[in-house]
Amino acid sequence: MPLTVIIGAQWGDEGKGRVVDLLARDADFVARFYGGDNAGHTVTVGDQVFKLHLIPSGVIHPEPVGILGNGLVINPGVLLQEIHQVREAGVALDPDRLKISHAAHLITPGHIALDAAREKSRGKAKIGTTQRGIGPAYNTKVTRSGVRFQQILDPAGFSQAIRDQIEVINQQLEKLYGADKLEIDQIVDQYSDFAEQLAPYVTDTGKVLHKALESGKSILAEGAQGTLLDLDHGTYPFVTSSNPTAPGALVGLGLGLRDGIRVVGVAKSFQTRVGEGPFPTEIFGPDAKRLRGTGENFWDEFGTTTGRPRRVGWLDLVLLRYAVRVNGINELTLTKLDILSGLKSIQLCTGYQYNGKRVQDLPLGPADLAPFEPVFEELAGWDEDLTSIRNWEDLPEPARQYLARIEEVTGIPTKIVSVGPERNQVIIRG
Ligand code: IMP
Repeated sequence: MPLTVIIGAQWGDEGKGRVVDLLARDADFVARFYGGDNAGHTVTVGDQVFKLHLIPSGVIHPEPVGILGNGLVINPGVLLQEIHQVREAGVALDPDRLKISHAAHLITPGHIALDAAREKSRGKAKIGTTQRGIGPAYNTKVTRSGVRFQQILDPAGFSQAIRDQIEVINQQLEKLYGADKLEIDQIVDQYSDFAEQLAPYVTDTGKVLHKALESGKSILAEGAQGTLLDLDHGTYPFVTSSNPTAPGALVGLGLGLRDGIRVVGVAKSFQTRVGEGPFPTEIFGPDAKRLRGTGENFWDEFGTTTGRPRRVGWLDLVLLRYAVRVNGINELTLTKLDILSGLKSIQLCTGYQYNGKRVQDLPLGPADLAPFEPVFEELAGWDEDLTSIRNWEDLPEPARQYLARIEEVTGIPTKIVSVGPERNQVIIRG
């Protein structure tokens, strides 16, 4: 498929990095299209564990070129650190293998300070952001006062633009939030240095990708966050500030509408969330502890970016059906099926109770989930360890029934199931 979009079908952290890693083997380009270093992908190769926040995780394969699209907000210091980290691990990452869109925006310390100040001022109503300056950076983009990567090609103009932006943000920090002002000269010097280092990577990535598709090459668009964190389609206001749903891939990469896009929706076999906001199937107690893990293993449910313990719950098929609709998902990947082994029974939310009636779809999207009571179906669990299973037919019968019920309710086939953190611990359905 020329264009494949991998999308989180839940609240982020579905294990998309794993699936990207698998599909990137055959891709010519791997591209991020929205968000910034609020994302966190853990990728394992042998005994090396990579935690990437910005660089598309597919670049750890020898072939694909990494693209940071126009939809991104990029902290240049974090990006340089990641480039360094990946190079240290032996992956050649030069401007031929990594390209930054001229139209992507820079995150500055001003955005990070504003993120903290705004969260503090919200008090109990805080969003629970990753504190990476994401919201404020999109804010300056939308108010047309952002600084774009294009500007780093003109060093004097760039320094002035950074100076101007921090001056305005300092006013806001001081007058609106009573927070400390930032030291402007230091930031300008630091950003001039970043600009010099990153200038060779800047190009019109939309043009690069368009030409690639015209010449029959393949692109893997790597979604970050998840459907329910989408600014328009998620659990507003507990969302991120961009559109990480599949249509965002076109806008965020500078590609036009086209037919035949493969949209892979990645969902965890249960459900997790970091940050605040509604979560109808959330559970507490011993089952929650089992699903979350202790934090000792890197695959346990603790935020890759923030280290916060994730909230956990049962798989919610009302929300998954919604994700299918707003993304145009045409195949599902279910991750972490192995974690469900050993549970006596598994609950699957197949509808909600609302105003005395049972519903399968939300009347007004997921922003206000409080009035909806999940309706669970109880399915049999299994004891077998799934981590060494590689064929669909070898899965225990209750596991296959669980997957079959998910397909039945969503109407979408599951093509990939992951059963462990290693590259080869996947079942690909023929
Ligand atoms: P922000 O994107 O840092 O503004 O955070 C807004 C909301 O999105 C918070 O609830 C974050 O926890 C959540 N969030 C942002 N990025 C991710 C991600 O990559 N995975 C999971 N949650 C995320």
